Amino acid sequence: MAIERTFSILKPDATRRNLTGAVNAKIEKAGLRIVAQKRVHMTRGQAETFYSVHSARPFFGELVDSMISGPVVVQVLEGENAIKTYRDVMGATNPANADAGTIRKEYAVSVGENTVHGSDAPETAAIEIAQWFAGNEIVG
Ligand code: CMP
Repeated sequence: MAIERTFSILKPDATRRNLTGAVNAKIEKAGLRIVAQKRVHMTRGQAETFYSVHSARPFFGELVDSMISGPVVVQVLEGENAIKTYRDVMGATNPANADAGTIRKEYAVSVGENTVHGSDAPETAAIEIAQWFAGNEIVG
């Protein structure tokens, strides 16, 4: 299995409740390595660009408002099959449907405040990583 990278966000509901370390512990326990990480407060424009694929959805405004409501931690995670590994440890988008032991089951507040984001495919991972990190900020 090839080593892969994925992009992660610890969302404002996570930083507000001081869960950065708890979520990072889950990530590392799943075998993923945090090879880049920084805390940022997204501008509205950055959040709209990041979630532009969802711009026609009825929840888009709520999603953007939520993502700029406080600081986030953006990350690059590296490991075997990193995209699927991280999606498995995150759990379902709606915490009501998330499996026991997943980040969203344990920590998410609602589908809108679901604690973490992870890329869904290699192409989106590359785009998302490039929005937030220069190549020399990622140290594997
Ligand atoms: P994320 O993995 O960051 O990708 C898009 C986000 O949109 C998703 O997590 C949820 O936080 C949010 N989302 C998806 N569906 C809904 C919904 N029905 N209402 C509010 N937010 C949603």
